Parts: sequence; structure tokens; C-alpha cells
Amino acid sequence: MQSAGTQNLSRKKEKEIFHLFGKHISKGQIRYLSGGHLDILEGERNGIRFRESRSGRTYIDGFSSAGCFNVGRRNPQVIEALENALDDYDMGTYGMLSAPKIELAKKIVSIAPGDLNRVLLCGTGADAIEGALKLAKGATGRNEIFSMIKAYHGHSGMSLSANGKDYYKELFQPLMPGFRFAPFGDLNAIQQMVSEHTAAIILEPIQGEGGIHVATDEYLKGLREVCDRYGIMLIFDEIQTGFGRTGKLWASEHSGIVPDIMVIAKSFGGGLYPNAAVLYRDSRVLTGFVDQNPEFHSSLGGGSDLGCIVSSSVIDYIVDHKIWENVERMGARFQEGLRHLGNENSDIIWEVRGRGMMVGVEYKHEFMGILMAECLATHGMFAAYSGNAPQVMRFQLPTAANEKDIDEALEIIRKAIKFMRLYLLLLSPLSTIPFIREKLNKGDILITVNVWLRKLAFWN
Ligand SMILES: Cc1ncc(COP(=O)(O)O)c(C=O)c1O
Repeated sequence: MQSAGTQNLSRKKEKEIFHLFGKHISKGQIRYLSGGHLDILEGERNGIRFRESRSGRTYIDGFSSAGCFNVGRRNPQVIEALENALDDYDMGTYGMLSAPKIELAKKIVSIAPGDLNRVLLCGTGADAIEGALKLAKGATGRNEIFSMIKAYHGHSGMSLSANGKDYYKELFQPLMPGFRFAPFGDLNAIQQMVSEHTAAIILEPIQGEGGIHVATDEYLKGLREVCDRYGIMLIFDEIQTGFGRTGKLWASEHSGIVPDIMVIAKSFGGGLYPNAAVLYRDSRVLTGFVDQNPEFHSSLGGGSDLGCIVSSSVIDYIVDHKIWENVERMGARFQEGLRHLGNENSDIIWEVRGRGMMVGVEYKHEFMGILMAECLATHGMFAAYSGNAPQVMRFQLPTAANEKDIDEALEIIRKAIKFMRLYLLLLSPLSTIPFIREKLNKGDILITVNVWLRKLAFWN
């Protein structure tokens, strides 16, 4: 394993990091993470695993930072490209022309779905979502945006306004005007709501934070028809689903539906250099707007020369290795194993769903999400529950996992469920009382209990 420079921490050093994180960054974050046993200091990271800094325990990375590591952790080919780039380049002056920008634009267009052949380079996912929504509003001259209930598009102004969970938004009202929400998958609802005032419909082809909900082909086809009828821009957020994660290069390929605008980020940066982009169709409306308003969206991080070189290398790696093929095969094996576990544990697992290596396991009760994260970590797998649907465990195993890794992951999950049953001996009877179930589902009690258990473990 290559060194990431943070392994072999002493307990004293680890304590100091926790203390200083609480002091300077956020105590609340530590508490939130410890609730699901996610307060792990990553040390060496390589391929599909990482090692905990102090204890040396190895974890299968079942989260992949919500889809950032589709080329694996510390991919040697991408590292080499970045190292070489550092000999000649820095970020470059923002907004200026450069060879790395053009090289990347050519590459991304060559693998983009359908006729999306124009590129807006951005810094982060939320930044690119802002760019996509501004593009749709500016080009159509309309103000209304439809997003989906439970959607996640980021934490900045417009992207937060498009977020489908009130929890993230209620502290900051009023947000951007003109955002409306429809239930994901309900074509009828959206047909009733849209009009000639609608600029865009934005959705994730598979909702990630919302709890791994897969849009059906008929739904996407219906949305395409609605958008064509009213001149609405169809925007796919492929930030989490793109770059092979679902068993195709793009999730939209499963249905063959091409959006007008598509947003990419996360694995675009290879887990080494945050990077994002908006791809759009070369139409009179969209291109015309951009050419007339070349400064309509820009950021210092968007189109950095170093970032472009990293992303070009990521695309080369993904295409050369056809990573989606392994994802399709291993994803099928993983999902089959999970369904088997689901049948054996039907009192705990309600449903298994997903595509490729973007898989959700929905538990019978919300509180089981936090509990299962804890039990999985105890058995050697790092996995997180969905931010907008805590009862759904979001498994995003590394795309390079092989049969042995998948079987090991399934074995860990089997053991974790068995372990969770010990907790459930106490919690199941309590959870039949609605008042207590509500408290458990809110997560606070479990987080407190887990924090204390973790503290005890820490002092051991
Ligand atoms: C589907 C989706 N959209 C948007 C974002 C926001 O991206 P970023 O965190 O880079 O701003 C994320 C990040 O989790 C995401 O998963």
C-alpha cells in the first residue's frame, strides 16, 4: 500500500485531532459522525480499502465518498498525470484560453450522451448546478424550476433551493423563488404542474441522497416529451450516477433519454482534484444565450489547468478500462447477494434496489440506518445511510471490486445484521410504542448511546 502520510497515529495525536476539529471546525460534526461510527480517521487509502490511522484496522470503502472514487482511491495513473502536470502548470488564470481546457472539453464531449457537445467548466457540483439552472433560466427567459421531493443537488443558493428535503432549507428561508417540487417518478403530477413558465425540470436519474430511487425508462421518456412540448430544459444531475457507477458510463444510457443539460462532478476529479462541468446541447436557445452572455457563470476553480489535466486522465482511465463493464457484473453479484440477505432477514430489510454499484438497502425503520452503519463499521465496512432518507443504506462499493471483494462485503453485511439483532432485542419491543419509535427515528437517542459506546471503546 502506498502511504497517504497519515497512518500510524498515536492515541495522543488522534485525541488531539478530535479535540482541534471540535474546537476549530465543528463539535456537532464529530457527534453526528460518531453516531454511525463514521468518525474514522482515514490513513492509507488504496484501491477499494482504507486503513484507520491509529488502530491499523482496514475497512472496505462501501461509500466511496458518495461516488467520488470511481477510479479507485489514489489511482496511480491519475496521480502520475497530476505529478507531471505540476512540472509545467498551476491553476492557470481563470477564464483564459488554455490547451488543458480544450483537451478536456474534447474528451468529455467525445463520451457525452447524444448530442451534448458544449461544456461549461465549474469548480464543484453545487457550482455546476448553479450554472445549469442559470443557463436554463437565462436561455428560456423563464423563472420556474421543477425539482423532485427528496432530491439532493447541493448546499449553495440555487442548488439548496432545488433540494427536496425541508430540513436543509428551513433555517435559511426565504431561498430562491420559483422552485416547485413533484414526487419522484410521478409523471402525472409533473404533467399537471408544468406550464409555459417553466424553465427546467431537474432530477437525478437515480436519487442518491434521497435513498436510491431509480427513475424508470417510461418516466424519463415522459419527462422528455413534456419538456419538448413546452420548450422546457430537461436537466440530469449525474454528479453521483456518472462515470460508470450504475453499470453504464452515464445513468441516462439505461433509458436512452438525452437531457438538454447534464451536470457532472465527483469522480470527474478522480478523488484527487475537485472538478465539475455542465454539458449542454448546441441549440440556438442555449448556445445563443451563452455566446451573448459569456460571463453568465464563472468561478476561479472551474477550468483550472491542473484540474483539467486530472479529469482528462480520469476519462482516459475510465474509457480504457471500460469500468462500467465490471460494475455491471459485480453490481449484479452484489445485488443478488443482498436480495438473498433481504429474504433471510425480512423483519429488518424491506427492499433492495439500485443499478450497478449504486445500491440501496431500505430497512423497516428509520433508526436502523444509523444502527447498521455502526454495526458495519464494527465488522470492517465503511458505509453511510442516505442523507435525505436515513432508513436507506447507500452502498457505493468501489467500482474495481472483484468477486472476492464482493463476497467479502456480503459476508461483512451478514455478520453486521446478526450483530444488529443484539441491539434489536431491546429496541424492537420499544419501537412498537409510537412515541418511542419517533424518538428513535429522529436519531438523537441512538447517536447519544453510540457516542458513549464509542467513547468507552476509545479509552480501552
Ligand atoms: C447528486 C448530487 N448533486 C449535487 C451534489 C453537490 O456536489 P458538491 O458537493 O460537489 O457541491 C452532490 C454531492 O453530494 C450530489 O450527490
